[in-house]
Amino acid sequence: MANSGAAAVVGFGLSCSSVKLSQTPISQFSQPSRRFCGVKMAVSLDEKKNFTLKKSEEAFNAAKELMPGGVNSPVRAFKSVGGQPIVIDSVKGSRMRDIDGNEYIDYVGSWGPAIIGHADDEVLAALADTMKKGTSFGAPCLLENVLAEMVIAAVPSIEMVRFVNSGTEACMGVLRLARAFTRRQKIIKFEGCYHGHADPFLVKAGSGVATLGLPDSPGVPEAATHDTLTAPYNDFSAVEELFETHKGEIAAIILEPVVGNSGFIAPKPDFLTAIHELTKDNGALLIFDEVMTGFRLSYGGAQEYFGITPDLTTLGKIIGGGLPVGAYGGRREIMEMVAPAGPMYQAGTLSGNPLAMTAGIHTLKRLKEPGSYEYLNKITSELIQGILDAGKKAGHTISGGYISGMFGFFFTEGPVYNFSDAKKSDTEKFARFYRGMLEEGVYFAPSQFEAGFTSLAHTSEDIQHTIAAAEKVFRRI
Ligand SMILES: Cc1ncc(COP(=O)(O)O)c(C=O)c1O
Repeated sequence: MANSGAAAVVGFGLSCSSVKLSQTPISQFSQPSRRFCGVKMAVSLDEKKNFTLKKSEEAFNAAKELMPGGVNSPVRAFKSVGGQPIVIDSVKGSRMRDIDGNEYIDYVGSWGPAIIGHADDEVLAALADTMKKGTSFGAPCLLENVLAEMVIAAVPSIEMVRFVNSGTEACMGVLRLARAFTRRQKIIKFEGCYHGHADPFLVKAGSGVATLGLPDSPGVPEAATHDTLTAPYNDFSAVEELFETHKGEIAAIILEPVVGNSGFIAPKPDFLTAIHELTKDNGALLIFDEVMTGFRLSYGGAQEYFGITPDLTTLGKIIGGGLPVGAYGGRREIMEMVAPAGPMYQAGTLSGNPLAMTAGIHTLKRLKEPGSYEYLNKITSELIQGILDAGKKAGHTISGGYISGMFGFFFTEGPVYNFSDAKKSDTEKFARFYRGMLEEGVYFAPSQFEAGFTSLAHTSEDIQHTIAAAEKVFRRI
């Protein structure tokens, strides 16, 4: 028996409502006036008549001869939803346009960075100004100080920060740092959590790996994952057992404080607190991988949202405003181990790149304006509730949830607490739903095992259009 829509949302959102949901009724928040409000694109969703992907198909067939699988990151290839990917020509606000001229309401947001909307005018103008001074310095610049100050002021655990070029790099760096600081080797990660594609993390890594049905990746040496221990997400006693078995050996626990890489999975109430206590009691470090949740759940990320201060944090996506960036940071005494302040080596040719810093600075400035997160909460709540209601009304078993601008739903009864629960979802039905929504002009992540994202540029009309489209598609799948 399916849960009611409200119960399903609460099923996931339990931890959020019990921790720190805004006390203000969401109906009081409207889209702040300075936000992007629907730049007119040549073919609007309603004007769209003949849905064809001819040019996308031709381009993707050519791409397959040029790049492995035709893409530069696996999930983009649509393998788990069938058909071929749409090839994008341009993005603006909440919209994407493909090379056939079809327009979509986008809930991927370049996998998270586009939280103030794509190609924001102020960000573009700031980038143009910075670009006049050059595209890369390979030397210190003032923009690094500005973004570092903003990140340190916003994220509770971060007293010092190191910028890198991707979330993967951030997680690689933070892992080396945790091992260097504790002088221990073992780490605990959770099944279905993704921390980039560095060897030690490619164990039960969710997301792209799960989507392709690859248990692990060939090429990862056994030695690289020998010290990676895994536990099911939300299973505190499994983690306790690992600490018992490997007394004094565990350097750190790394986790997604809200999982996005198995679909959207919220932590159970007290799970994060209990994990935090456990690390403290055992001399291990707690690392929040906030590459996805940083500046998305709240301005201070998941750690501010849940009121838990980890030892170390990784960031990416939003802090680069759509340009390649990552960062890791934490307590000063730990960060001072990083070269050249300390002995732990880590470096990068393009790290602290002025364009990436610029886009990050202007994205964070916008997010900091009053009402941003209340607005994200409001539209995302309406969206997920509308989708769940529509699904149930059409007789489907569906559950889902959201926090701020992050959401997800599964074709299973729920509650979904971990990756095994997520895998109970009817992925074939998801694929049918996905293709149907695409034809209706709605672009979700092309995998059941990815969270969705809203942005400040999504309007109430976007949300209503999406729900109406879902009603149609649910009736015919
Ligand atoms: C939680 C998390 N950590 C790390 C990464 C890796 O980031 P990147 O793709 O920038 O290397 C991702 C990417 O989606 C992520 O979601």
